[in-house]
Amino acid sequence: MDKIKNLIAKLIINVLDENINEKDILEKIEVPKDNKNGDFSYPCFNLARVLKKSPVVIANEIKEKIVLDEKLQKVEAVNGFLNFYLNNTNVLEDVLKNILEQNENYGKSSEGKGQKIVIDYSSPNIAKPFHLGHFRNTVLGSAIYKLYNALGYEIVGINHLGDWGRQFGLIIEGYKRFKDEYDLKKEPVKVLAQIYARMNKIAKEDESVMDIARDNFKKLEQGDKEAVALWEYFREVSLEEYNRIYDLLGSKFDSYNGEAFYNDKMDEIISILEDKKVLEDSQGAKVVNVGDDIPPCIVLKSNGSTIYATRDLAAILYRVRNYDFTKAIYVTATDQILHFKQVFEVAKHLVDKKYQEGLVHVPYGMVRLKSGKMSSREGTVIYINDLIKEAIEKSKKIIVEKNTDVDDIDKLAKQIGIGALTFNYLKSGKIKDVIFDLDDTLKFDGETGPYVQYTYVRTKSILDRANFNIKNIDAQNIKFDLLKEDEEINLVKELQKFQDIIRKSANSYEPSILTRYIIDISALFSKFYNNCKVLSCEDEYVKQARLALVYATSIVIKNGLTILGIECPDKM
Ligand code: ARG
Repeated sequence: MDKIKNLIAKLIINVLDENINEKDILEKIEVPKDNKNGDFSYPCFNLARVLKKSPVVIANEIKEKIVLDEKLQKVEAVNGFLNFYLNNTNVLEDVLKNILEQNENYGKSSEGKGQKIVIDYSSPNIAKPFHLGHFRNTVLGSAIYKLYNALGYEIVGINHLGDWGRQFGLIIEGYKRFKDEYDLKKEPVKVLAQIYARMNKIAKEDESVMDIARDNFKKLEQGDKEAVALWEYFREVSLEEYNRIYDLLGSKFDSYNGEAFYNDKMDEIISILEDKKVLEDSQGAKVVNVGDDIPPCIVLKSNGSTIYATRDLAAILYRVRNYDFTKAIYVTATDQILHFKQVFEVAKHLVDKKYQEGLVHVPYGMVRLKSGKMSSREGTVIYINDLIKEAIEKSKKIIVEKNTDVDDIDKLAKQIGIGALTFNYLKSGKIKDVIFDLDDTLKFDGETGPYVQYTYVRTKSILDRANFNIKNIDAQNIKFDLLKEDEEINLVKELQKFQDIIRKSANSYEPSILTRYIIDISALFSKFYNNCKVLSCEDEYVKQARLALVYATSIVIKNGLTILGIECPDKM
């Protein structure tokens, strides 16, 4: 893919009189969504500035002068775009050989080498249940983590735990009062959440409870032994539970430094802001003005205490110093859009411009149940543990009904259940609200995880039945030029886009692009398999070429799903 982009960039440069950087051209070459607009397209808009002509004129001029290589069939100039069409026979062979050769590395690149990306994701509040929203956050963040990793960046995953704040004073009090009434061994986080809810109710009726809570939190801040020990216990049992979920999802974190970690790092922030004279008084609170269209960012409350934003400011400075990042990404629900706008504005006073410009907030929409069940206010939160359990159990039932012959049914049920949940969250654009229904996500047809996993299993079973083993096959001897059917060509052309899709997905923080691409590949594969004989193909050469195409498809689906955090079962 990149080979062809390089080629096109060179051909364009060759006909330009002006001195233009090849890289600038290369970066702009895109793969059009619709094949009607060619296989590659170059928008001439950037050149317009340099050449002082309209993009339309430039496109026409280049089209007249350009000398095409054998890999390209034709070029058209349309509205300032140059649309390049590949010479199929030549290119299909290149693409497929490349996929077979690179195998599990196909799609990866090293363009991010030497650059670090920090991604702050999942970040639940301890002693509170991990619910559907956190789950969406975690699969989204994990996918972005793996997308950038595939592009060669070094990634630092940070779980910025919500492990600080006055609520811990309340939980400490509740724990002391009620711990004997509950079984804390079995599901400690659920119990702590219940105790917290109970204490909130009590505090509404009895104001003195809030004073006790405040006092407890003060003790915690000052390092009181008992308070700290309890807080550590809350944190530990919460992390134990979250880690079980992260293991199931294959999510990686390099740091669990949460809000508490910044407790002793906020004074510096206040003094920097003071030195820069940007800290202003507002009704007793200390704030930083961040422009006319958004409210000022509160840094110290009127009682002198710090808030969530203060800790995020300290975290930015810490991450700049310790990670020297190219980008620092934050994944949270849309309700924190304003928070990050404010914090990123204040960061201008704390860190160099290049770091401040690397701060990115990636917001995602709400998750609702089809049955309308999810509301934390009514106490009908769906615990993700329960949901995962249900998904796995239902998958197991389906496997039994289908009479699948597998050795480890529990492993397969896990792969399908978790894959289905993950896929469902990733397939819609991140900002969209997701309406969730477990039975829909577990369907074996339609745009679901099981459907793409099943497509993968089909490719495997075809290859097995044909005794196709890439180790025994010399790709040089496969006659790829025998692949001439539309279904074959369309599939190969789509497989070719893989790296570009990864890049687009990463750079727009939108794993749904990759997810939908895998759905497209699966659909194109079905079309191909329905229309072209593979196992029963009489011509041995055509059969080998088609098997190689099946194998290439399996590689792309597997590599793609791996980035999304979804496993590929061998049988289903
Ligand atoms: N704990 C927060 C929540 O559950 C999310 C934290 C996001 N990360 C951050 N650096 N603020 O809403």
